[in-house]
Amino acid sequence: MTALLAGLRDVGHGFGSGARRRVVLRGVTLDLRAGDFVALTGPSGSGKTTLLTLLGALRVPEEGDLRLLGQDVRGLEGRALGALRRRIGFVFQRHHLLRSLSVVENVEAALHGQPGAEPARDRAAALAMLEAVGLGGRGGEATARLSGGEQQRVAVARALVRRPALVLADEPTASLDGRSGRAVVALLAALTSGQDCAVVMATHDERCLDLATRRLHMEDGVLKQP
Ligand SMILES: Nc1ncnc2c1ncn2[C@@H]1O[C@H](COP(=O)(O)OP(=O)(O)OP(=O)(O)O)[C@@H](O)[C@H]1O
Ligand SMILES: [Mg+2]
Repeated sequence: MTALLAGLRDVGHGFGSGARRRVVLRGVTLDLRAGDFVALTGPSGSGKTTLLTLLGALRVPEEGDLRLLGQDVRGLEGRALGALRRRIGFVFQRHHLLRSLSVVENVEAALHGQPGAEPARDRAAALAMLEAVGLGGRGGEATARLSGGEQQRVAVARALVRRPALVLADEPTASLDGRSGRAVVALLAALTSGQDCAVVMATHDERCLDLATRRLHMEDGVLKQP
């Protein structure tokens, strides 16, 4: 059996209190293992992004158990939480690249502050990652000059350059046309397969569901097999 990268048991989460209280996740139980590429679908407001923030150790669940990369998230604070987050890669709907940096600098920035960071090695890793996403030779360009699809591929390179054990993508194709959207997801699938990592991608995009190895559906905070 491959290693368990994330384990959720009866996870519940909500926001607000009193009359404004809203329960967003209910009894979510899920295991993620190396090789999983999960497409997470569900209506707007069903809790997909909230689940991704839990999987990213960006918040702690109110109820239930959450283990990420062998650690109980509830027992972690400060540095340990930071170290855990550095082993997780994120790709968002909008790329959030820094316009003032070149393409390669955007990817490299993900490596800054890593233990043992070394400028020459970071540059080489960033350039290799750009090559892998089909942007070899474009590293010196101004980020703003790239097309939307190219910028999202830079975002994929930035998320993967640290070789994360868990990759979380929140509607990564939402701002792209069908063809470039599928290309971005295909890249994500190709670059993570055989890497001992798991990917969870929240998506409304029917055209890339076939690229996933597993599908999960969220309805009103409850996770279902579709
Ligand atoms: N920080 C927050 N504070 C209060 N309510 C929140 C917060 N984050 C999310 N919610 C609420 O939780 C519910 C689920 O939101 P979530 O963003 O997880 O849905 P989603 O499935 O990702 O939707 P979409 O497909 O539109 O992105 C929504 O009703 C939202 O308003
Ligand atoms: Mg969302």
